[in-house]
Amino acid sequence: MGKLLRLDKYLADMGVGSRSQLKEMIRKGRVAVNHEIVRSPEGKVDVDQDEVAVDGVAVGYVQKEYYMLHKPAGVISATEDPRHKTVIDLIESRQRKDLFPVGRLDLDTEGLLLITNDGDLAHRLLAPKKHVDKVYYVEVDTKIPEDTKERFAAGIQMEDKTVFRPAKLEQKTEKSGYLTIQEGKFHQVKRMFQAVGCQVTYLKRISMGPLSLDEGLPCGAYRKLTKQEIETLTQI
Ligand code: URA
Repeated sequence: MGKLLRLDKYLADMGVGSRSQLKEMIRKGRVAVNHEIVRSPEGKVDVDQDEVAVDGVAVGYVQKEYYMLHKPAGVISATEDPRHKTVIDLIESRQRKDLFPVGRLDLDTEGLLLITNDGDLAHRLLAPKKHVDKVYYVEVDTKIPEDTKERFAAGIQMEDKTVFRPAKLEQKTEKSGYLTIQEGKFHQVKRMFQAVGCQVTYLKRISMGPLSLDEGLPCGAYRKLTKQEIETLTQI
């Protein structure tokens, strides 16, 4: 036996409508459970065993969803925004209405973003004491000073007293490289490079813990995580 839910809650979780719209739909006889019309929104359904259908179309229950998004620039890492398209809007095949991005990328940052409704997993990935590596590909406007690798490795104290803990820089060219950080402070990568006199001109997240951006996923596209990816994440 699976979890028992009220019929209207089941359908609301799956984004079929608001609770009041659903009450109306149920009363009008548009909803069936195990092929029988049910007219009471409070009736309990078993999420694993009962078959729920609206207007004859089956609505399966999905408890958790996990998506990898290749975030494009210009889309905001939030669940709602009055001005910009959000990362959630990009997940067109979403079923749950409680999805959120795990951590934030700036409006102009691209790359790996995990979208889920698994709060425990998000907490584990973001908790500072878990020291989960986040790797960014960075391009800057001027030559990266020679001592930058050492300065980042030692940790950086900013003028406003913010401290960025030790980070690893692997330079690729004079003006680009890969930076691994274990925190997620506001504008962290941009501020770290500012501290050594460089402006970030392009920023892309490549990985987060065991999860790496799928190279076959074009910018703006998304896919479900594989079972194996979910498995490795739950071991954190
Ligand atoms: N650091 C930044 O400065 N911006 C991001 O979007 C992520 C990390």
